[in-house]
Amino acid sequence: MKQQEEDLSRLSSIFETYGNERKGLIPILLEIQKEFGYLPKEALKKVATFLNLKPIEVWGVATFYNQFRLTPLGKTHIKVCMGTACHLAGGRLVLEALERELHLKVGETSEDGQFSLERVACIGCCMLAPVIVIKDEIYPKMSPFKVEESMLPYRQESESFIEKRRKD
Ligand code: FES
Repeated sequence: MKQQEEDLSRLSSIFETYGNERKGLIPILLEIQKEFGYLPKEALKKVATFLNLKPIEVWGVATFYNQFRLTPLGKTHIKVCMGTACHLAGGRLVLEALERELHLKVGETSEDGQFSLERVACIGCCMLAPVIVIKDEIYPKMSPFKVEESMLPYRQESESFIEKRRKD
């Protein structure tokens, strides 16, 4: 809780930068997401107060645009490129395989906080399409068949995986 209070104190410099006009709502939300990796609920309430808006209006904007995240990123954050080259090379199938493998939908974080999944635009290495990025490491020429293997080292870091293995 203390940590959360300290974190939210960082909002004041964001508020100072953008001022309290209504048109600042989206830039402020983008800045908060950059700072925290997602939009904490308490931060959204503070934004509403600062901009003199109803909390439901801020919530409405935060949930309307899919670039906003309402949950923190997992320890292992996976980005799936959905730029044109990756899409044409089967990126959608790779994304679906990851969703099945991790029991997650894109934009979600696993309950144990280990994994999160995001679709992103071109990351600039189209020659290697389709591409995913796990913890900033690029996995080139992906296919649905490579998904399970590529996740193995990260699964072994997962506390729930270790716990499950202990019970087996
Ligand atoms: S489209 Fe995926 S890296 Fe360019």
